[in-house]
Amino acid sequence: MDKEKVYKGNLLLVNPDYPLRNNKKERLMPAFIQFPEILLKYDAANILQLVLEKISSGNMIVPVSGYRTKKEQEDIYKNSLRDNGEEFTKKYVALPCHSEHQTGLAIDLGLSKEKIDFICPDFPYTGICNKFRKAAPAYGFIERYQEDKEEITGISHEPWHFRYVGYPHSQIIKDMGFSLEEYIEFIKEYTNKNRLYYKDKYGIITEIYYVPAGPDKTVIVLPDNQASQVSGNNADGFIVTVWRKINEKK
Ligand code: DAL
Ligand code: ZN
Repeated sequence: MDKEKVYKGNLLLVNPDYPLRNNKKERLMPAFIQFPEILLKYDAANILQLVLEKISSGNMIVPVSGYRTKKEQEDIYKNSLRDNGEEFTKKYVALPCHSEHQTGLAIDLGLSKEKIDFICPDFPYTGICNKFRKAAPAYGFIERYQEDKEEITGISHEPWHFRYVGYPHSQIIKDMGFSLEEYIEFIKEYTNKNRLYYKDKYGIITEIYYVPAGPDKTVIVLPDNQASQVSGNNADGFIVTVWRKINEKK
């Protein structure tokens, strides 16, 4: 793994401390077919479709904001400072290069209605919106800015902002009540020789571990006969995920 891969992948931590470092254009597609201007990274968009199908959301949920360029984030920040003031803006708008929206892995969703607030759309803990929230972790999405994690994330409670991290990371984050910051730290306790084993209700075992990045290249040995994925954490290393059927030998 080249050093630059630390800044790529589904598990990137982008927050006030860790800016987005990867400036390569991602492969994007519309998050909702009916809203071609709101984009997400290809995998995240496809999987979002599955969640929406699963809960039969019809046209009750709409996308409000997906992938943003640096320039778009700068404009949103500037306009919010002008219209809403500094206190509000710092709570609800990430600084340019510190926004998950620039990764293509984050989407703001709203309950469909005539007037939708662009920065704080309504996405209540009831009805179809909560159905989405409950279904999302089984597909790879998490509610990113929970109410009691503001000190850790640096962002206020945002019930509308969902982040794709991939399954089963999303499910573990949900089950353990972690913020993404806490999960990234938690995973560092697991190494190649001492992996986190996660068994889901389908009998699939996932092994997860952390590999610190070397100064130049990092060697990670992956099995040929099992599905695996490596993501940078955007800070200091890689998170390796290996899938295995329950009866499959290690
Ligand atoms: N509203 C989130 C924090 C953003 O601007 O990225
Ligand atoms: Zn958002």
